[in-house]
Amino acid sequence: MRRTAMGKVITTGKGRRWILGGHPWIYRDDIAGGEGEPGELLCVEDPNQNTLGWGLFSSSSRIAVRMVTRSAAQPDRAFWAERIGRAVRTRERQGLLEPADACRLINGDADGLPGWVVDRYGATAVIQSTVQGSDRMRDFLVELLVEALPFPLDAIVERSDSAVRKHENLVERVQVLHGSVDGPVRVTEGDLCYEVDVLAGHKTGAYLDQRTNRSKAAARARGRRVLDAFSYDGLFGIRAALAGAETVVCVDQSEAAGERLLRNAELNGVGERIVFERANCMADLRARKDSGERFGLVVVDPPAFARTKREVEGAERGYVELNLRAMGLVDEGGSLVSASCSYNVRDDLFLRLLARAARDAQRRVWLEGLCGAAVDHCVLLGLPESAYLKCAFLRVE
Ligand SMILES: C[S@@+](CC[C@H](N)C(=O)[O-])C[C@H]1O[C@@H](n2cnc3c(N)ncnc32)[C@H](O)[C@@H]1O
Repeated sequence: MRRTAMGKVITTGKGRRWILGGHPWIYRDDIAGGEGEPGELLCVEDPNQNTLGWGLFSSSSRIAVRMVTRSAAQPDRAFWAERIGRAVRTRERQGLLEPADACRLINGDADGLPGWVVDRYGATAVIQSTVQGSDRMRDFLVELLVEALPFPLDAIVERSDSAVRKHENLVERVQVLHGSVDGPVRVTEGDLCYEVDVLAGHKTGAYLDQRTNRSKAAARARGRRVLDAFSYDGLFGIRAALAGAETVVCVDQSEAAGERLLRNAELNGVGERIVFERANCMADLRARKDSGERFGLVVVDPPAFARTKREVEGAERGYVELNLRAMGLVDEGGSLVSASCSYNVRDDLFLRLLARAARDAQRRVWLEGLCGAAVDHCVLLGLPESAYLKCAFLRVE
């Protein structure tokens, strides 16, 4: 990159068109000049030196700048306070700030706060910073978050241990920034109550993005045998049991998640109807099919099979094979809830893969709905990457 004045980058013509088209990321190839410090908030100009706005610079990622605003005015404290305040007020309007609930308060770039995620578990906030800019602003953003929340926080935990940090040359960091965390945090999700390991659980502790899909799946569970594959700590399965499932089998490879799952099942008074089996789901599903097992509701919620575009081809085979096995386990007239959190496998491709699985399984399958993440995982229309989750609700004959 050509070095001109500090704290400014100049885009190529393509970069300019990209930003004006609404996408907030500028790739390194679309920078014609300028430079900044790692994580610096800098001014972005087009090739004719017109200001395109302000963004956070990364010195190492392929995404060189994440735009924060298209306004010419430099963001100040009031700007950031308003950004965070708007995100919090939105969750409040969505009815997600009840004291014992859990929700995503800040959803990174989609909330105009690049690389910064905040999940709330009751009065414990878990922050996750994934880019140089959010790391550099961490203490300032935490201060503004505390000011914006309509309730005090008992604890603030930093879970900046996502693998994506390596693209930003950032080391992993897990620490309690405020208060203390003595064991799991207990939260509610409607009539469901569960414990979260905010220090070592996956993501910030739980998969909050599946909240509404769990309720939709549970509506198909009454009186049925349920299989919750890739269960993590069992929230699909426990929800199903609460909704009247006859029995629930949860399968995951994580022992720690299984232990939490059994505690959560007891906590909700459904321990007698739930079993956990630690296994590789791909092998487990095949073995169940071979032994003639059937379920009225099967849920498959695997980790992302395609984290990059290059992995899509392999992921296609994985999704077809997984769903083929899952469909083979569904009773005639039963339900399959099938999720994919691979952004690179878009909605239309995912549906084609499900259709291929149905063909190979020789089952007739109807799509009853295709849903995304819960509403607090907001989707910014100019940023398709924020619409990563797909959850298909299928009827299988
Ligand atoms: C997206 S999470 C599931 C979230 C869960 N359904 C929920 O609603 O909280 C994926 C889970 O798959 C598990 N996992 C990954 N690969 C696996 C495999 N081959 N067999 C079994 N579990 C696996 C991980 O431990 C993780 O808990």
